[in-house]
Amino acid sequence: HAAAAGCPFSAQAEAFDPFTGAYQVDPAEALRWSRDQEPVFYAPKLGYWVVTRYDDIKAVFRDNILYSPRNVLEKITPSTPEAMEILQGYGFALNRTLVNEDEPAHMERRRALLDHFLPQNLEPNQEMVRRLTREKMDAFIDKGRADLVAEMLYEVPLNVALHFLGVPEDEIETLKSFSVAHAVNTWGKPTPEQQIDVAHGVGRFWQYAGEVIEKMRAQKDGTGWMHHTIRMNAEIPEVVTDSYVHSMMMAIIVAAHETTSLASANMVKTLLEHPQAWEDICADPSLIPNAVEECLRYAGSIVAWRRETTAPAHLGGVDLPEGAKLLIVQASGNRDERQFEAGDAFDIYRADAQEHLTFGYGSHQCMGKNIGRMEMRIFLEELTRRLPHLRLSEQDFTYLPNTSFRGPDALWVEWDPAQNPERRIP
Ligand code: HEM
Repeated sequence: HAAAAGCPFSAQAEAFDPFTGAYQVDPAEALRWSRDQEPVFYAPKLGYWVVTRYDDIKAVFRDNILYSPRNVLEKITPSTPEAMEILQGYGFALNRTLVNEDEPAHMERRRALLDHFLPQNLEPNQEMVRRLTREKMDAFIDKGRADLVAEMLYEVPLNVALHFLGVPEDEIETLKSFSVAHAVNTWGKPTPEQQIDVAHGVGRFWQYAGEVIEKMRAQKDGTGWMHHTIRMNAEIPEVVTDSYVHSMMMAIIVAAHETTSLASANMVKTLLEHPQAWEDICADPSLIPNAVEECLRYAGSIVAWRRETTAPAHLGGVDLPEGAKLLIVQASGNRDERQFEAGDAFDIYRADAQEHLTFGYGSHQCMGKNIGRMEMRIFLEELTRRLPHLRLSEQDFTYLPNTSFRGPDALWVEWDPAQNPERRIP
C-alpha cells in the first residue's frame, strides 16, 4: 500500500475505527478533522481509504469504471474459518446484484428492470402506504406513548417493500433477525463467537430467499418487481442471471426496507429535536417534501458506501494504488461546508437539500429513492396531522454498530391523548 510505503499516518487516521466511539455517535462530526485537514486518508485498522469531502465522494460515485462497486456487499470484517464453513453448509453464494455489478452488465440489467420504479408506476402504491400508516397509528393514538420504530416505522416499510416486490408476506420477526444478521455480516464487526450466530442467520436467509423464488416461479401471473425479474430471467437469462435472481432476492429485502425504516426513524427524531421545524411542518404540510430531503441530508440512513479502484488513481490530493478499497462517507459529505452553507445547521428551508448523497449518485443511484421518499412524506403527513403535539421521550438512543446502516433501535415518543385533534373535531 502507498500509505504503508510512504507517508506516515496522522494520529487521527491511525486511530480511526468506525465500529466504536465517535463514528457510532455521529459519523459526520467524527470526521470533521478529516474534511478540514486530510480529506482522503488510509485507516490501518480498517484497511480502507476513507473519503470525507462532498466533491471527492461525488467524483468517486461518478466514475464507476475507475471506482468499481464490486466490493459493495463484501464482508467488511472477513469471516472466521468456522463462520465460512457454516455459510458453505448453507450453500451461501451471494454474488453480484445491481449495486455491486460492473459495466456493461450493470446497465443492461438495470434497464431491463427499471419500469416498476417509474413515477407513474409508483403512484398506485401511495394509497397502500397511507392505509398501512393509518392502521398502525390507530393502534397507538390513544395510548399517549409509543416506540415508533417497533409500532410503525419498522413494519410499514417492510410491508410496502414486500408488496412492491411481490414477495409473500412472511413472518416479520424471522425477516427482522435475517436482516440484522445480513447487516452485521456485511457492514459490522462481529466477534468470533458472534460470527457463528450471524453465519447461521445469513445462511438461513439465503435458503429462505431460494425458497421464496421457487414459490414465486410457480405463480405464473404474480405481480411485483421480483415477479417481473423472474420472468426476465426466463426471457434473457444472460442478462438477468440465476445468480442475480437469488442474490437480489436476499439483498433487496434489506435494501428496500431497512434503509427506509432507519431513514424514517432518523427523520422523526431529528424533527422532534428541532421543535420549530416540527411546528412549521405541522402548520404548513407543503413544507414536508423539502423537510424529508433535509432529514436525508442531515441524518441519512446510509452513512457510508464502498468502492475499489481498478487502476492507480488520484483523489483529494492523494495517490491511490490499484485495488485500493474506499469507504466513502456520505454522512460526512452531506455536512461539508464547501458544498452546503452552514452544513451543520438543520434547515428545512434549505434550497439545495436534495443535493445530498444519501441515495448515492450516478449510474448506480438508488432505484427506489422515490419509494423511500414517498413513505417518509406520508409518515410525516399523518404524524403532523394526527399528533402535532408529539414530543420525544427521555431516552438513550442505541445503534447497531456498523459502518453503513444508521438509525436508532427504538424511538420513544409521547403526547397527551386528550389533546388529539381528532377528539376535538365534533
Ligand atoms: C441502491 C440508499 C430505498 C432499491 C442504493 C444505494 C444507496 C441506497 C446508497 C447505492 C447507490 C450508489 O451506488 O450510487 C437507499 C436509501 C433508501 C433506499 C437511503 C431509503 C431512504 C430503497 C428502496 C428500494 C431500493 C425502497 C426498492 C424498492 C435499490 C436498488 C439499488 C439501490 C435496486 C441498486 C441500484 C443500482 O446499482 O443500479 N440505495 N435506498 N432502495 N437501491 Fe436504495
